[in-house]
Amino acid sequence: MNRLVSVAPMMDCTDRHERYFLRLISKNVLLYTEMIVSEAIDRGDKKRLLEFNIKEKPVALQLGGSSPKLLSNAAKIGEEFGYDEINLNLGCPSKKVQKNKFGACLMKEPNLVADCLNEMIASTKLPVTVKTRIGYDNVEDYENIYNFVNLLSKTGVKTFIMHARKAMLGKFTPKQNLNIPPLKYDIVYKLKEDFPDLDIVINGGITNTDQIKHHLKKVDGVMIGRSVYHSPYFLADIEKEIYSTENILTREDVIKELINYVKVEIKKGTRLHHIMRHTLGLYHGISGSSFWKRYLSENMCVRNADVQKVDHILDKVKHPQRQEVSI
Ligand SMILES: Cc1cc2nc3c(=O)[nH]c(=O)nc-3n(C[C@H](O)[C@H](O)[C@H](O)COP(=O)(O)O)c2cc1C
Repeated sequence: MNRLVSVAPMMDCTDRHERYFLRLISKNVLLYTEMIVSEAIDRGDKKRLLEFNIKEKPVALQLGGSSPKLLSNAAKIGEEFGYDEINLNLGCPSKKVQKNKFGACLMKEPNLVADCLNEMIASTKLPVTVKTRIGYDNVEDYENIYNFVNLLSKTGVKTFIMHARKAMLGKFTPKQNLNIPPLKYDIVYKLKEDFPDLDIVINGGITNTDQIKHHLKKVDGVMIGRSVYHSPYFLADIEKEIYSTENILTREDVIKELINYVKVEIKKGTRLHHIMRHTLGLYHGISGSSFWKRYLSENMCVRNADVQKVDHILDKVKHPQRQEVSI
């Protein structure tokens, strides 16, 4: 599995439509689902929760939970649905998640996590990976994260995705927990030095290809969340500079391809805005971007939005000086 660059699991963001859209820009990055709770897979509509388009591959399924039985069952079902990797979330600090005992609070219970991973590994042939933080609350010394990784690696897990900040359990909102605890990349680099046989993927605050190249000198992979969500065409830079890809779709061609997908999805009952909302940042940082956002929010992100208007808008984004022309 190529884990050089991956796009982070993000609730309400990395759904199947977002992944299809990102895959049009990048053939190489590894994509992750949002966290899906093992209880939901057990009791809920499996098809609705897990089905995805084969063109999104490679895709890793991220699970949340702390029941070895439910997690192993969910991993097995994930394999049947065609995912390429099963990842366990040990990094989410939200209160709701803690109440249900999954996410970052499981860093306090390494033996339970090891039980979960053992069962998951036994139930699937897919690689089982972990996404975690470098510490929690006042537990932030290197020895603690070293012991955590060491114990979990004994289960056979080979890939550790390290969000390079600690989680403050119960104290901060999820948003504060993504920004306030400082990033400590050196701890992740040291883990790679101490566990040279493990694949260590670094995550947190990565926003450009120079940073990616720098991290890749120290660790095996880089995972990026918000910068890709807010500026999806960043993936085109990644394709060019990290994978030396030559034929990358232009933004306009990405939208044209996406419209073909939209037409198929609409027939299945998908709302247009559920797809197009992910494209708000496509023109981030370039001329015409505010026009694209306004157009989307006025036309594409409303009920009964009209797909036919898209060709018109593509012309306008290509020629932003003609923005005043009414649609
Ligand atoms: C809106 C949002 C939702 C997130 N949902 C998840 C999630 O479901 N599972 C998870 O492991 N991390 C989740 N995260 C954390 C990201 O995966 C990532 O670790 C974090 O954003 C740091 O990376 P970044 O600085 O590149 O964004 C979420 C982050 C954001 C912003």
